[in-house]
Amino acid sequence: MLLLFSPTAAAAKEADTAPTFAKDIAPIFQKNCQQCHRPGSIGPMSLTTYQEVRPWARSIKNRVVLGEMPPYRYDRHVGIQDLKDDLRLSESEIEMIARWVDDGVPLGDPADLPPPIEWPDLNVWTYEDEFGPPDLVIKTKPYSLPAEGSDVWWKPIVPSGLTEDRCMKAVHVKASESGRGVAHHANSRLLGFDEESQEWVDVERLSEYALGKVGEVVPEDACRLLPANSMVSWDVHYYPNGEPVENDVVEMGVWLYPKGHQAKVKHKQDLKNYSLLMKGAELELPPHGTAMTQGFHSFETPVRIDSFQPHGHFRLVGKTLEIFDPKTGDLEMVSSVSDWTNDWHTSHIYAEDAAPLVPAGSVLVITGYYDNTAGNKQNPDPNQWVGRGSRSADEMSHAWIAVTHLDDEGYEQLVAERESRKQTDND
Ligand code: HEC
Repeated sequence: MLLLFSPTAAAAKEADTAPTFAKDIAPIFQKNCQQCHRPGSIGPMSLTTYQEVRPWARSIKNRVVLGEMPPYRYDRHVGIQDLKDDLRLSESEIEMIARWVDDGVPLGDPADLPPPIEWPDLNVWTYEDEFGPPDLVIKTKPYSLPAEGSDVWWKPIVPSGLTEDRCMKAVHVKASESGRGVAHHANSRLLGFDEESQEWVDVERLSEYALGKVGEVVPEDACRLLPANSMVSWDVHYYPNGEPVENDVVEMGVWLYPKGHQAKVKHKQDLKNYSLLMKGAELELPPHGTAMTQGFHSFETPVRIDSFQPHGHFRLVGKTLEIFDPKTGDLEMVSSVSDWTNDWHTSHIYAEDAAPLVPAGSVLVITGYYDNTAGNKQNPDPNQWVGRGSRSADEMSHAWIAVTHLDDEGYEQLVAERESRKQTDND
């Protein structure tokens, strides 16, 4: 037994388990990095081969250890951890990458290398592999942006092109290749025709695009309705970056569930049965100061919370979602993002059995933390007063939250299904 502690045995053991690129690191990069770090993708360099990775080793260790790469800012050890499309590395993977860099970036045995991944063309739709081409593509009208200037909001209204009521399966909003660097956000809302007033009225939020955002899938047991003959009202936020852009068009791909798709979960039959709501608060941030905002929202029916996406600009540093139950007095932390960056807008989608089921009357509490001091590395100017507003220089306090509205029966059904799955798991 004593031998185990002798220096030579320890060294041999270390050599045995020392991570190599071929065996340990390449598979991690394939899984968590290459979708962005490959030729033509949004990352600044490709990380598909050892030769490509080698010069970036130091920077990779830094970014990975700081939790900046992969860009998925979501706190560990707080709230729900079971998320779909979670890009985060595990703590042991982070530790392994750091150790591999410290060891001098060994390649290992090339025979251990995993076969390279064949990536689809970047200009194709996110869900094309999974669902095929979108059933519907809704485009903005073209817009030309000068090289210099301030924020522009482009708000064309266009027909959806759908002539029957259908349930949406997924939505992906895609900036054009030339517009990727200037289209910061592209939100869209659904308009319905109101027979009574004979005009188009706002129904609900349809989709959101922000730099680095991938798209959204509607759970199969829900129906997010795209009504026949509706209109889509776009709101594209352009910010000139020194290069003029001609006739830019932002596109929204919509995938539909088959005709006759029924929500498995019983829910209120209204257009807002899968709405995404925002709820923030007034905000005033003095020069060199900090602030906190809280927004509250409750529902008349039980709901399931399907996703959480904080929103903010340069002074936002953190946002949390909690649920308060007035009957028990319990305040439960659901999600926390404490190192927010405006470079990335991620919709954190809860896994099926993790999505909070919220009884009627419970309160969602959205808390935002803002730092207008020089200590906030992202702050462009700590001498400014900052208020709420949609310019990049202003700040915002809301979150995008996908909600499935349920009736009492639907709620009981979901709770019972979850219980029985838990039961089966334990058996
Ligand atoms: C969702 C897309 C995406 C994923 C996934 C991703 N990156 Fe990045 N990465 C980017 C973008 C965009 C940048 C440039 C902007 C920035 O630096 O934040 C970047 C920058 C970097 C940089 C800094 C490069 C420089 O100029 O110094 C490193 C290092 C890096 N990534 C490593 C990784 C590693 C390692 C992984 C996987 C473990 C990874 N990234 C996953 C998109 C991504």
